[in-house]
Parts: sequence; C-alpha cells; structure tokens
Amino acid sequence: MSTTEAPPNGKYAMGKSMKRKEDARFIAGKGRYIDDIVLPGMLYLAIVHSPYPHARILKVNKDAALAIPGVLAVITADDLAGVGLAWIPTFHGYDKQMVLAVGKVLYQYQEVAAVIATSRPAAADGVEAVDVEYEPLTPVVSPFDAKTDKTLVREDRENKTNHIYHWEVGKQAETDAALAASDVSINERVYFQRCHPAPLEPCGSVADMNAATGTLTLYMTSQAPHAHRTVVSLVTGIPEDKIHVISPDIGGGFGNKVPVYAGYVCSAVASIVTGHPVKWIETRTENLTTTGFARDYHMDVQIGATKEGNITALKVSTTADHGAFDAAADPTKYPAGLFGICTGSYDFPIAFTQLDAYFTNKAPGGVAYRCSFRVTEASYAIERGMEMLARRLGQDPADLRLRNFVKKEQFPYASPLGFVYDSGDYHTTFQKALDKIGYRELRKEQAERRARGELMGIGISTFTEVVGAGPSKHFDIMGIKMFDSAEIRIHPTGSGIVRTGTKSQGQGHETTWAQIVAEELGLDPQNLLVEEGDTDTAPYGLGTYASRSTPVAGAALAMAARRVREKARNIAAHVLEAPLGDVEWTDYKFQVKGVPEKSVTMKEIAFAAYTNPGPNEPGLEATYYYDPPNLTFPYGAYIAVVDIDKLTGETKVRRFLAIDDCGTVINPMIVEGQIHGGLTEGFAIAFMQEIAYDENGNNLQPNFTEYLIPTSLETPSWETDSTCNPSPHHPIGAKGVGESPNVGSPAAFVNAVMDALAPLGITNMDMPMTRDKVWRAIQGASK
Ligand code: CDP
Repeated sequence: MSTTEAPPNGKYAMGKSMKRKEDARFIAGKGRYIDDIVLPGMLYLAIVHSPYPHARILKVNKDAALAIPGVLAVITADDLAGVGLAWIPTFHGYDKQMVLAVGKVLYQYQEVAAVIATSRPAAADGVEAVDVEYEPLTPVVSPFDAKTDKTLVREDRENKTNHIYHWEVGKQAETDAALAASDVSINERVYFQRCHPAPLEPCGSVADMNAATGTLTLYMTSQAPHAHRTVVSLVTGIPEDKIHVISPDIGGGFGNKVPVYAGYVCSAVASIVTGHPVKWIETRTENLTTTGFARDYHMDVQIGATKEGNITALKVSTTADHGAFDAAADPTKYPAGLFGICTGSYDFPIAFTQLDAYFTNKAPGGVAYRCSFRVTEASYAIERGMEMLARRLGQDPADLRLRNFVKKEQFPYASPLGFVYDSGDYHTTFQKALDKIGYRELRKEQAERRARGELMGIGISTFTEVVGAGPSKHFDIMGIKMFDSAEIRIHPTGSGIVRTGTKSQGQGHETTWAQIVAEELGLDPQNLLVEEGDTDTAPYGLGTYASRSTPVAGAALAMAARRVREKARNIAAHVLEAPLGDVEWTDYKFQVKGVPEKSVTMKEIAFAAYTNPGPNEPGLEATYYYDPPNLTFPYGAYIAVVDIDKLTGETKVRRFLAIDDCGTVINPMIVEGQIHGGLTEGFAIAFMQEIAYDENGNNLQPNFTEYLIPTSLETPSWETDSTCNPSPHHPIGAKGVGESPNVGSPAAFVNAVMDALAPLGITNMDMPMTRDKVWRAIQGASK
C-alpha cells in the first residue's frame, strides 16, 4: 500500500489486501533458512535410525564408523546419559521421551545414534558404517491390540500398561439416557487417519556453543523459540540468558516444528563437547518417519434426534494412538486438546465425550497439524455424524443443519462441553453458501444424474472452531501460561520496529502485524519492520501454531499500539499547547477538540518524542503482554460437489465453495491464501495421504513417492467468500483463520463422496478415499 492511498471505508491499513512484505526476499531467493546458515569450523551431524519397530539394542559397534576419515564421534544414549540428556520431558509434561534409543527401540526409524563429522558426506558415510545389533520384539501396531497389554511398549514406566490416560467431559449418564430415549440415532465409527504435516522445509538446527562467553546459540526450525529456550535451559541447566534461540525463515511448520527432536538435542550436545558449531538437517524420510505426526483418532459417534430431526444428544468415544511417547503438543490441562468442540455448530441439549490414549510402536507426536489441538478430529466427527444422521432421518443434510444450528441470538453460547462461543451467525453464513453454490439446483441435477445411473455427490461441512490458546487461567504448556506479547518502538522519523513472541512460517506476519500497528497509529505499514523468532530481542511468547497468532499476539499488538498512542497523546498536548483532556485521536491524527486546524500527525509526534517531548518521558515505545479473556470461535460453511467415475473409482471435485467467518479481517488477500493452502491440504488428506503401517510395524509412507502431495494438476479450483461476525472480546474483533480450511474441508469431501455413493448403499468410508478404495467399494456394492 502506498501511504498516499486513501484509506478504504475510512480505515487506514486494516482490511486491505496489501502485498506481503516478506515476499520480496522470498521471491528473490534471499530468504535465510536453517540450511543457509554456515558458520566457521562447522561440523555436521547425521542420525542412525532403527530398521525395527520394536527391538532390544544388544550392541552399538562404532569402530567402522570412527575409522572413516572425517568422522569425529558417534554418540549414543549412554553418552547422553553422561550429561543427563538421555531422556527429556515431552511438551505434554505427563511423559518423557528418549532422545536416542535407550535399551530398546520403540518404533521404526527411531534415532539410535548420532554421527559427528567434518563434512555432510562423511557424516552420512558414518551413519552407514555404524553397526547396531538388535533383538527384534513383537510390535504393537494397533491401539486396539495395545489395549490387551499382551506386549508392553514402555517397560520404563511404572504403570505396566499401554494405556496412557482416560479423559472425559460432559454428562455421561444423562447423555446415555437421552440417546436411549431418542426416536432416531446413529452410532458409527469414523477414523481420522494418521497423517503428517510434511512441511516443504524439513527440521534442522545449527548449535554453536561459545566456550568463552558460555553462550549456546541455537538456530533452529522452531515455531515456538521462547518455549524451546526455556526447555533447553530446564533440561541442560544452562542459565536462560546464556541460551540464544534464533528461528530464521521457516518453510512451513503446520505444528511439525513445535516438538523437540533428537537432532536439536544432539547438535547442542555435540557443539558443547567439540567446541565447534554443529549442523543437523533432516532428510525428507526422517521428517516423515520420526517427527510429529497428526490425528490417528478412532471415534465412535452417537447422535440422537427426534423423528422431526431435532438433535437430542451427542456422545463421542475415542481410541487414540499416540505412538511410543505421549508427545502430543497439547496444553497441560487438555490431554485431548480442544476436542470438546465436537458439538460443533449445533445446539445439543446434552453431550459427553471420552477418550482413551494408548502407546504403540509408532513414531510419537499428535501435533496440532494446522489445527487448534484436536479441533480437526472433533469437527470431522460431528460433520460426518450429522451427515449420517440426515441419511438415517431421510432428510436433506442442509435442512438438518439449518434446523439445529446455534442461533445468532444465543451468542455468547455456552456449549454443553464447556466452551463459551463468542460470536457467530451460522444461518446467514450457511444460507450464503447454499445460495452461492446453487444448492437446490444442484440437488435437482443430482436427481437427474442418479436417474441416469451417474454418481454425483454434494457434501457439506458447517464447522465451528476454537482458537487462540489461551486464557492463562486454563492454558499452559509445561506450566508456561499461553499469553503472547508485542513490543513497538517508533523511531524519530515515524518508522518503527515491531516485535512479537510469535513466529511466522509463511503466514505473512511481517505484513499483517505491520497493518495492525499502522491502523492503530496512522503510520505507514511499509515502514514498520516486523521481527520475530529471536529470543534475545523479541518479548516472551508461546509461538505460532493452532491459529493462535492473530487472536493472541494480534491483540497484544493492538494493545501495545494503543499504549504508544497514549504516550503520544501526552506529547501531542505539549506540542499543541492544549490541555491533555482536549486532545483527541480523530481521523488518524491528534487534534484539539472542536478545532480541526489544530492537529498533529503521529509522524510529527514521533519526531517530537525525541526532539521536543516537553515534560513527558522521551522516546516512543511500549510493550504489552496479552492474556486473552476467552478463545475465539471462527467458523465456516463448506460445500463440495464431486463426480465419481463408476468404472475407475476416480473422484473429480467439480466445485468447492468455502465461506469463512474469522471476524475482522486484517488482510483479505492473505486470508484467501491461507484458505487456498489449507483446502489443498484438506484435499490431500481426504484423497491421498495416510501414514499407514503394515502388521509388522513398517511405515509404508516414508517418502513423497508414497505420501503424496497434490500438485496444481490434481488440486481443484477453490471458490471462497466470507461473512464477518467480529469477536466481541478481541481488541480488533479478529479471530484466527489459518487452520479453518484444513479443519473444515475433510468432512465436506468425504460427505460428498458418501453422497455420491449413497444410491449403492455405501454409507461410510475412511480417508484417504483413493481411487482404488472407491473402486473396490463400488465393486463390492454391485455384487
Ligand atoms: O497462528 P497463525 O499465524 O498460523 O494463524 P492466524 O492467526 O489465523 O493467521 C494467519 C494469517 O492470516 C496471519 O498473517 C494473520 O494475520 C492473517 N489473518 C488476517 O488477516 N485476519 C484474520 N482475521 C485472521 C488472520
């Protein structure tokens, strides 16, 4: 945006599709990613992985590796134990995880040893030469097998069971009674498969221990640099002021770059021991097989209704596969994340949900993949459930939703599972979607096509999310409250620097954060430099994941800017020679009440702050730590139209319309970009992706030839639009949006395919709905 451009609708910088400031360097290839960091004397670290999913380690023979020129050391768990780092706490706080395998390996590809060498090829050769002797054990591959406790995954734990925890919320007895008394009910299992965020850039670190200053600088692919600094300090005992975490440009995170991985820890230990900087960069296979997976929830969904279609009760019982460690990155008090949002957009009189989590011989994780801690699984459960209920009732799924939505006048709405939804108007947003896609006409077309034997489907998902973790009374990670922060420093010439505790991985914060501050201060967003990811300079914050940045740090920015404005108002009173009470902020400048010609811009006040502050404190800066009073509840209405080829099972997504409501929009172009990206991920999850294991515990998707990423050829053309119901408790009314399309779209795709296949009597199918799977279902149905 140019500064001379007239503010739209009386606004200055907010709500404008300003081009992304960061793209200038990304497009020019001038981004600085972790592998771009090269330090003098740098060594390289590579990791030895287990071919077995479950095996005792009998011996690690290092000699052949150490004989390779350039290989300096081979680290195992024994070496880490010597410095107290064989085990570290998981983010969840209830469990601990091995850094390198201790005694036995618990999943295929688990990290067993780390090789340090003078070059990357030498490190790779060293990995090949390390000879590990294993005694294979029976793997536990399914959480349902884990329940039997026949084979114990975690012998190190006091409780000799694979059961990790039971969690529940709601009223069980009343819900069961209401379900039993319902005229109609469904009870179906839906499975949200294990999938992986698969960011374009894998994880990596460069650790640089400076023995002279005692400072450990850790460049790392971190979505939460401050939290990582604190964890490093707690587990190593290095004082936090001597740890400097720098998160450079990141090529996508999606929750995958929240947990602490073996490579980070081993590179830090290697640097401390050798006195050299040490770089670790993951391969694609390492990323897909060892770093945080997502989902893997088996959900039994029960919904009751009257014969007219009024919903009476919801019960969801989940069996969760957590892999070898309970490393799900959830807030402490929410072991199953925010799964309690499973009542969705509907006004259930009563509900109950429970979950049992199990250890298996699979990689650990359960990260919030573009998701506010299990909201995606919850949305999938309810949106699939409502679809199945509509079919059971013989009602149109759109009509069933319109009948049961929470009504606009019910907001703030207290859900039966404990959330207080801040704002929304589900009927209007959904009606907009129905009108825009021509829903009733599509149903007529579908009836004609069905009469001709063609398979056309229409799928709906009208989801509600819960984002912006979170209010400190409920939300912490390892005890650290989940507030966020902003610091604004305005320079004498009216430009400035803005810092927050968040960390963009492609979301465009350098642009939208500048827009928020520019709007509050009447300054040029182009001249507000946004800096994130450096723990020595940024104020403390919990980072960027779960669409929390705008609800939390976005609010902190607005509040910090208002503090700057209040300081500036005092200086304006001095400059305008008017009593403070007479100076008001109007039309993006300070003016004396009722005397418009006596006014002064923020740019002029910035100069005065350093040259003529009068009796006021010189300078112009402020910091704000924002503790949100509530979460925000963005929502959407998505409709997919698909055609299935009966002979091949191929599904074509003919249309996909996404209407999103994330309250006040800071930058419509960025929001649209977020929606396009998330829908593409949702499409991939629905039709292509699964981290599946065979019965022997072998990971079947260890690379991109098996774990498919859609290209522009497969990706449908997305239609988007919005409605706007601002959050009443957020300073600028904004809710998060980044994850909405990933949360909302899988159910729309599956519902569309199930709708297409309904005439064949097919009612349920798990993702990914590959051509092969759909073809087999059609073949099975025609027999
Ligand atoms: O936490 P994360 O940045 O991943 O998610 P987000 O808060 O939903 O923001 C994603 C991007 O969309 C950021 O650049 C936001 O500032 C922008 N956004 C927006 O322009 N308006 C909103 N109401 C919400 C997000």
